[in-house]
Amino acid sequence: MKKTVLVSGGAGFIGSHVTVELAQAGYDVVIADNFSNCDETNYKGVCAILGRQMPLVRMDFCDAAAVEALFAKYPIDAVIHFAAFKAVGESVAEPLMYYRNNLLSFVNILEAARKKGCNVLFSSSATVYGETDQLPVTEASPRQPATSPYGNTKQMCEDILRDSVKAYPGVRGIALRYFNPIGAHPSALIGELPRGVPNNLVPFITQTAVGKRECLSVFGNDYPTPDGTCLRDYIDIVDLAKAHVCAVTRMCEGRMKEDYEIFNVGTGRPLSVLELINAFERVNGVKLNWKFAPRRAGDVVAIWADPTRAEQELGWRAERSIDETVKAAWAWEKKLAGK
Ligand code: WQD
Repeated sequence: MKKTVLVSGGAGFIGSHVTVELAQAGYDVVIADNFSNCDETNYKGVCAILGRQMPLVRMDFCDAAAVEALFAKYPIDAVIHFAAFKAVGESVAEPLMYYRNNLLSFVNILEAARKKGCNVLFSSSATVYGETDQLPVTEASPRQPATSPYGNTKQMCEDILRDSVKAYPGVRGIALRYFNPIGAHPSALIGELPRGVPNNLVPFITQTAVGKRECLSVFGNDYPTPDGTCLRDYIDIVDLAKAHVCAVTRMCEGRMKEDYEIFNVGTGRPLSVLELINAFERVNGVKLNWKFAPRRAGDVVAIWADPTRAEQELGWRAERSIDETVKAAWAWEKKLAGK
């Protein structure tokens, strides 16, 4: 009997890649999105990759009645919750917008999941670890006080899921803590679509290389790292998507060992900003226009995952090389530019 997975925010960067991997793994998928943070590009790309029109519900998860109607309409076995605002800087300027949207949408989903008795997979983030010198981080590493309302909503949603699992029989949950998702699907039919000027490194690199941005600023070269630039755990978006299939399967097959589980989803391979720029230039044969700039407020010096738990319990590990990832990122940017 095929299982049905609801992907909230399924038209977005991560949601669309997860939809493809779930469908190709044999799951029925329902995409629900209010398109507040993306257009239909990735939804159309998902349908093109899968060769069929995927079920799509346009809705806002802050609308409790709409959420209830969605769960009444489809035989949902598991829900993966991506639908949230995710711009760190914007969350500092608009905290109430972030707390309302990110918390209320998740509470509505949990209320519906509780009635249906279905599993919940929450899209969390390594941002919960904050700044730490105990590296690599494991799932037992302490969370640090959030440095932005966005990061705080991630911690609060983890706690809401944990407490719901404890209180309500039949609700089981997994939180996946992503490190830095980058890249695009090898088909170049889906990828990252930042609104306006990208905050994140890789889309800024590709937009600079394609001529959409004048120059990439490397924020800080005086950090206590081998080359002076920050270290991050950059995880290929397709590897990240496959981790969701492993987690959903663990839940649907009743293989969870606790009713609430947390997994780091990273490569365990720290990379500096300069190393990423050099890989991009080498693999794609392009010269990038970049310069050093002052440090960016809020940046942590270094963070990368200990992915052992996901390997042992989910049977998942990152497989793509950084070369494959920057190649796919560049192919996607060129496709967007019509090149
Ligand atoms: C990576 C490195 C920058 C842009 C953020 C969120 C996190 C998660 C992933 C959602 C840093 C440097 C960047 C640029 C640069 N998002 N950089 N020039 O900040 O590690 O994580 O995205 O869950 O929650 O905080 O990612 O790509 O912004 O930065 O030098 O134009 O690249 O200083 O060292 P970050 P990032």
